[in-house]
Amino acid sequence: MLEADLILEHAAELATPVGPAPRRGQAFGELVRITDASVGIAGEKLLFVGPSQDLGTKVRLKSGGRRMDVSGKTLLPGFVDPHTHLPFAGSRASEFKMRLAGKTYEEIAHSGGGILSTVEAVRAADLPELGRAAWTRLDRMMEWGTTTCEAKSGYGLSLESELKQLRVIRELSDSHPVEIVPTFLGAHAIPKEHRARRSEYIREVVEEMIPRVAAERLAEFCDVFCESVAFTVAEAERILEAGKRHGLKPRLHADQISSGGGAELAARLGAASADHLEFISGPGIEAMARAGVTAVLVPGASFFLRSEHRPPARRLVEAGVAVALATDLNPGTCPTEAMPPILVLACLTLGMSIEEAITAATLNAAHSLGRSEVIGSLEAGKQADIQVLDIPEAAHLVYHFGVNHVESVIKKGVVVYERTRLDAMLP
Ligand code: NIG
Ligand code: FE
Repeated sequence: MLEADLILEHAAELATPVGPAPRRGQAFGELVRITDASVGIAGEKLLFVGPSQDLGTKVRLKSGGRRMDVSGKTLLPGFVDPHTHLPFAGSRASEFKMRLAGKTYEEIAHSGGGILSTVEAVRAADLPELGRAAWTRLDRMMEWGTTTCEAKSGYGLSLESELKQLRVIRELSDSHPVEIVPTFLGAHAIPKEHRARRSEYIREVVEEMIPRVAAERLAEFCDVFCESVAFTVAEAERILEAGKRHGLKPRLHADQISSGGGAELAARLGAASADHLEFISGPGIEAMARAGVTAVLVPGASFFLRSEHRPPARRLVEAGVAVALATDLNPGTCPTEAMPPILVLACLTLGMSIEEAITAATLNAAHSLGRSEVIGSLEAGKQADIQVLDIPEAAHLVYHFGVNHVESVIKKGVVVYERTRLDAMLP
């Protein structure tokens, strides 16, 4: 008999992809769905996942353990958000209003706004201030079902300020229940003071920032904004190769605004992911499929920019590329912490099924972060990262859109969030 610290009993439905391998092609849309499901947890791990009728013969509750009745609810793996720019300061609401009045993102960037305005705000903020803002965002992520996220620097653009952002990420990952995977994105933009000498900035990224970030173990991945308005393919290659030499695994912002060979570069480098991909080329898709690079799609960003260009999600799936979904949480192009609206956009604008969207936001996202052995699905032996949703079946997560269905969240076997209910006041 297995002994559990926590049992969740009688869920209307439990839906999960099965890993650890990422789900591709036909298998991308296949979830295991169990009605009247129960889960047993011991310590940080799942002991039992299956029909309630089998629970009693396999699992018993330890004395002092907790039993939660989740009848009428749906259980899903906690979301894994594999692309966020979490530690930022300030707001770009005024730029948003300018865009609503007809200005473009590029026009605003050229007149001193855009990424560089957030860089000013981040440089001016001290570490505790940045930490408080990011902590609040992590709370919101958790309240919307996210249990792990990636977080990038990239708004410091100097050794000192990039380190400050990465130290904020480290402090938060030591204290907040949401698990954070850190990424160094020093090559997000050329800072103002280097505009006339871009090669000097790239040298600084390669020779000073990357070695220091690696020595202090402040990041696991290295990212570059590979784009005509940011860093060329050759520059991105130099930076990501330097990252690799220092043990930082590559991932990149690729083909977001133009088709520039970013996906092909990701394949050449064996990157963990290529993200955005609104303008990916046919050969880029083939190269990613061959090299096993995960496509991280961020439909919230193109929606928020009112762009007509969508990443070719169906062609990526048909080519056998593993597809993941992310918020791209950032103050300019997607200021949201919530994954559910991203799944809604993936279904309604990218042609994904609900099952595919769930897989993309859990197991495939975990794979892109190198963690699909541990998180991203509900299976015995994996980490107990679970969201309990107040819906009768998983499909309602997308169907009943625009509201938060999260009832509670379990991270590493601990109930870290429970929504306050007013049920006690019902007449
Ligand atoms: O992922 N593409 C580059 N970086 C962000 C935008 C950042 C910003 O506007 O502050 C993105 O969309
Ligand atoms: Fe981004």
